[in-house]
Amino acid sequence: MTSSTPPDPKLYRRVMGQFATGVTVILTQVDEEIHGMTANAVTSLSLDPLLLILGVDKKAHMAEMLQRAGVFTVNILRDDQEPLSRYFAGGARRGMAKPEFHFVPWGRAPRLGGCLASLACQVDGILEGGDHWIVVGRVTDLYEGPPPHHPMIFYAGRYRQLDPAHADPAPELETSPIPVHIFYDAWGDDIS
Ligand SMILES: Cc1cc2nc3c(=O)[nH]c(=O)nc-3n(C[C@H](O)[C@H](O)[C@H](O)COP(=O)(O)O)c2cc1C
Repeated sequence: MTSSTPPDPKLYRRVMGQFATGVTVILTQVDEEIHGMTANAVTSLSLDPLLLILGVDKKAHMAEMLQRAGVFTVNILRDDQEPLSRYFAGGARRGMAKPEFHFVPWGRAPRLGGCLASLACQVDGILEGGDHWIVVGRVTDLYEGPPPHHPMIFYAGRYRQLDPAHADPAPELETSPIPVHIFYDAWGDDIS
């Protein structure tokens, strides 16, 4: 059912929290200054060209830094890197003790050492998205860290770990030239 008043933002956060994501640290560099920000609003967008999108709060320092730098890296955290996620999500400003980490020089913006994987990006566009900017990044380089590959998971507002025992293969993510028709019965149940 639809209604004219928009849903409650808190409920929206809770419902979106059901969508499990990984956790990344975005790094950018202006002159000698490196700035990092924890982000999970990161999504692969296009294969040709290679593009991803990143949602950045308009109030975040990162917003201005990205405009100035024009480049950034997306660093995908391992499940034992929770202190880094907290540190780059305002922990540093709140006086949190600095966890151990290092930056690895990588073109115009560094990558975060010890991560699961990193993507180097050039800012391809910045679009309006309500109280956030939608930053489109053109992927210019890729780095895959050594195994084991145990990602940090963010789900329902908590940091979690994958259970490697449950890993069923998913279908190939190819676009089909044949449209798929799904029919619903009167009760809204999928009967295709
Ligand atoms: C798990 C997690 C995910 C986050 N994802 C985002 C995000 O995608 N975009 C964003 O703008 N802020 C996100 N934040 C909040 C920023 O990390 C936080 O506001 C940070 O202090 C902004 O840093 P800055 O103002 O120094 O750039 C996230 C925080 C956490 C803990």
